[in-house]
Amino acid sequence: MDRQEILIDTADYVKKILENESSGHDWWHIERVRKTALLIGKRENADLFTIEMAALLHDVADEKLNMSEEEGLHKVRIWLSNKNVSNKEEIIEIISTMSFKGGNRPPMKTLEGMIVQDADRLDAIGAIGIARTFAYAGAHGDLIYDPAIPYREQMTKDEYRNGKSTAINHFYEKLLKLSNNLNTKAAKELANSRHEFMQDFLNQFYKEWNGLG
Ligand code: ADP
Ligand code: NI
Repeated sequence: MDRQEILIDTADYVKKILENESSGHDWWHIERVRKTALLIGKRENADLFTIEMAALLHDVADEKLNMSEEEGLHKVRIWLSNKNVSNKEEIIEIISTMSFKGGNRPPMKTLEGMIVQDADRLDAIGAIGIARTFAYAGAHGDLIYDPAIPYREQMTKDEYRNGKSTAINHFYEKLLKLSNNLNTKAAKELANSRHEFMQDFLNQFYKEWNGLG
């Protein structure tokens, strides 16, 4: 199998797993992350095959879709084991270190990892990020907004998943922080208009909420 065939085969594999996922990790999220990561990768002169493979596989190991992250990574290892890919460990390393988890993970070790992480974070902001946030909140029974529910800054993801939050709170808990947590110059440039769009959205939201606009 040449690289092109490996990419097509891997895309099919991921598509089958994530096709019916509506929690924000559907196939179209992967497709957008792949496109954005390749765009950044070209601007930053990175290895595009590694980027594309890691982008395609980055959510297969997600703990929400598996019993544990370890089990998820095992699935990725098995998938790569019968493929003629020379840098399997680099791809695994990217996938296992990239998720945000409150920002307390070690920084990415490779440029390719930084880029895929940036692309994943860019898909959580801007118009798409707003849409995903409300889809997630709806799927988890959270309200759009409730001025009586405080931000859950001090809690872990699991704690606030089990407690109550709102879609609007998620902007302060995560989305508005993401543009300051990007690795590459190209991603920072792409983040500017997305960040501004979220701020405009919030301003308009509060205006309407308060009957002022
Ligand atoms: P990622 O794939 O970036 O690790 P997550 O798995 O945390 O993201 O979440 C998937 C999508 O759902 C993202 O767009 C994220 O911003 C959104 N999301 C995550 N947690 C919440 C929440 N508590 N309320 C609203 N949206 C959320
Ligand atoms: Ni993702």
